[in-house]
Amino acid sequence: MQNRKVEIAAIGTYVPDRIVTNDDLSLTLDTSDEWISTRSGIRERHIAENGHCTSDLGAVAARRALEAAGVRPGELDLIITASLSPDMLFPSTASFISGLIGADGAAAFDLSAACTGFIYALAAGSSFIASGQSETVLVVGADVVSKMIDWSDRSTAVLFGDAAGAVLLRPAASDGAGIVGFELGNDPSGTGELSLPAGGSRLPASAETVAEGLHYLKMNGREVFKFATRIIVSSARQVLAENGLEVGDVDLFIPHQANIRIIDSAARKLGFPPERVFSNLDRYGNTSCASIPLCLDEAVAGGRLQNGDLALMTGFGAGLSWGSCLVRCGEIKRAGERDA
Ligand code: UT7
Repeated sequence: MQNRKVEIAAIGTYVPDRIVTNDDLSLTLDTSDEWISTRSGIRERHIAENGHCTSDLGAVAARRALEAAGVRPGELDLIITASLSPDMLFPSTASFISGLIGADGAAAFDLSAACTGFIYALAAGSSFIASGQSETVLVVGADVVSKMIDWSDRSTAVLFGDAAGAVLLRPAASDGAGIVGFELGNDPSGTGELSLPAGGSRLPASAETVAEGLHYLKMNGREVFKFATRIIVSSARQVLAENGLEVGDVDLFIPHQANIRIIDSAARKLGFPPERVFSNLDRYGNTSCASIPLCLDEAVAGGRLQNGDLALMTGFGAGLSWGSCLVRCGEIKRAGERDA
């Protein structure tokens, strides 16, 4: 078995044009801009058009990452898609994305780890390259959570947005840059805290499941909040310790974007000053599997992550799952445009 170093060679993202503000939501829900922005930090989110599904968003991000890298779709060995809102239970959303971008022949599969999915998929994709199994892997984090939401439930409807991000992984060009390490975990005692209960084999779709609203995302917000503030800190500390690094070595901390109070609490406990923590939650809401690549892309575009910088990315979500990744950035090529 080989054990090659893996780098993020390029990134592409996509967010739908349509913006829904907190004031827009307060027209149909018993909520307010004041409540949403102070309790979550979210001001607006982008929502996909009717008829646009996860692979549609993921394919745009994927094309952009490939174009930025100068890689043809036919060169891909593998596409992994992380999503909690897949096009269908099967076939995989990765297969639909493969068809849309013209990557016939590349292996394609989905990975289900809810909002931690992008970090898990990054770990899986980099292992394929490190082992020598693959040379060129596309990891797509994409979600159209708006299609899984009960728009009359104010406790969830205000929190999420739609987006996609894709990164191209390759063997590292130099010894310096590349993925340094991962820390992944899951606590199965929390399966009931965040789920989409019906439509799978546990609770097949029926007239009753539809009538009872069991095809919508359900969340125990307070419990997930407590879990998140604890797990981000322990996972970040563990991945740093396992790789002989400290918080002071990290140039930019990119946590999953679910709630600004979670981000601030974790950053404070870890000892990150605000200028070394990335957040764009106010503009996109919680975009689930797309949240970390969306931040990564903006951080590279804005010069907050440069060649040689160390980034720490930490995700958490249903499972209850979590994952951290440390990456020493090389030149991450990116597509100029984000919107369609
Ligand atoms: O990526 C997936 C991971 N998900 C998360 O990380 C979410 C984690 N949880 C959270 O971010 C927070 O728990 C929420 C933002 C979901 C909720 O904030 P909270 O401070 O925990 O509020 P709460 O659930 O304790 O509710 C406080 C009050 C309740 O009213 P009462 O019972 O005190 O009268 C809710 O009914 O706020 C009410 N409330 C709302 N009020 C206005 C809940 N949602 C809303 C709303 N607008 N949208």
